[in-house]
Amino acid sequence: STSEDFWRPALHFTAERFWINDPNGLVFACGQWHLFFQHNPQGNTWGHMSWGHAVSRDLLHWRHLPLAIAEDPTHMAFSGSVVIDDKGTSGLGDGGQAPLVAIYTACAQPPARHQAQHLAFSNDGGTRWTKYAGNPVLDIGAENFRDPKVFWHGPSGRWVMAVVLAHGRIVSFYASADLKHWSHLSDFGPEGGVQGIWECPDLISVPVKDHAGRRAWVLKVDVFEGHPSGGSGAQVFIGDFDGQSFQSTQPARWIDHGSDFYAAISWAHVPAEDGRSVWLGWMNNHRYAAATPTLSWCGAMSIPRVLHVRDDGAALLLCQEPVSELQAARREQRRCGPLGLGAGGADEVVGLGAGDVLDLDIVWRPGTAREFGLLLRCGGEQATRVGWDAERRALFVDRRQSGPGPDDPVFRSPQYAPLAPQADGSVRWRLLLDRCSVEVFADGGAVVLTNLIFPSPGSRELKAFVSGGAAELVTMECWTLEA
Ligand code: FRU
Repeated sequence: STSEDFWRPALHFTAERFWINDPNGLVFACGQWHLFFQHNPQGNTWGHMSWGHAVSRDLLHWRHLPLAIAEDPTHMAFSGSVVIDDKGTSGLGDGGQAPLVAIYTACAQPPARHQAQHLAFSNDGGTRWTKYAGNPVLDIGAENFRDPKVFWHGPSGRWVMAVVLAHGRIVSFYASADLKHWSHLSDFGPEGGVQGIWECPDLISVPVKDHAGRRAWVLKVDVFEGHPSGGSGAQVFIGDFDGQSFQSTQPARWIDHGSDFYAAISWAHVPAEDGRSVWLGWMNNHRYAAATPTLSWCGAMSIPRVLHVRDDGAALLLCQEPVSELQAARREQRRCGPLGLGAGGADEVVGLGAGDVLDLDIVWRPGTAREFGLLLRCGGEQATRVGWDAERRALFVDRRQSGPGPDDPVFRSPQYAPLAPQADGSVRWRLLLDRCSVEVFADGGAVVLTNLIFPSPGSRELKAFVSGGAAELVTMECWTLEA
């Protein structure tokens, strides 16, 4: 078989073929979760940027639809968002159901470099799109002005847009009554991670856990380089938004300590009876995306994740957990533990079975061990190590033996996320393995590591290890997953 078969994820979204990057225009409409995405319909590298399209009823199974917004001779269609204009503010409807309106960045075809915000609209529920004849709708004559995220702001009764001045490390806010005329409200930044240019902002009202009715404003913005794991990554500011400007009330935080979570945006118009904030991100890194080794497709989305904010007294933390829909994909279940490891003083490795598409929950009791954890996709010299480092008190992912990945230090350097044991002394995490990806969630989703791996098809074993002392694997529950 070819590489694209054995690395292609079973549950994570990929294009039928060719390159993808950012999720775009996530919107729930007519009972379906729409996923638009940056797509090169002609090849496996970045270029000819257009909006691909897929839909799902359960966030697990995706149906591919025709290209939604194509590049044209003058412009590529860069990232942006979609809203349902159910109040008919834009006049772009045809008298039937409310139109879907996409607000996206039109980037002039090279060698020109101009970027401005355009509209396209659909009156058939999102399948066929027409570019608005009055484009651009927001043009400040800039070259790095992009990624508009638009939402309806109820209290002020108007549309609000967050959009970046990428090189200025600024999120600009604009308002509009009709999606066609925009006026500048305020600017946020530079602040937090500013080493790389800023991209793909999202301003989300997220429920605060265990505080019924309370919500927090979360401003996410991606940074092209300078993430602590190397390369690109996402940071969030939590604070207040009064309809005019955003004020951060605490320092910026990185939301994923792995290398491969970028350009996430949240779904718009999720029905009130669902009430969740759900997002997903592009599971890749601008540092090495072009060098990932798959042949006929390139790029996957993360698993869709539910967001909430946790008030731990000292700070508000953004937490991400896989959507519960994923549980429907669980098949065979295995349990193991308790298992004392490394008691004799020697490093120990034990087999726990095999699999390349797994969902597992693991609980450890740290002892004297310097490190303990799991070896995923082992075979020959290959293994991806996911464990806990006692000295650093940190969860880590080590891809040094994860197969023929991009030749880049960012891919080969172990990553650490601070993680203290729970109140009962245990260390636990949830892990999703899907052929070429590992997503680790700990501390109620406040600690996340998302990473690509490229092991050989035969590397399928799952093992536990301890080194430098003893630790107890208290329990592991593991399911195979199947779409
Ligand atoms: C982020 C990004 C966006 C831009 C798009 C182009 O990955 O660079 O800023 O709109 O990709 O594909």
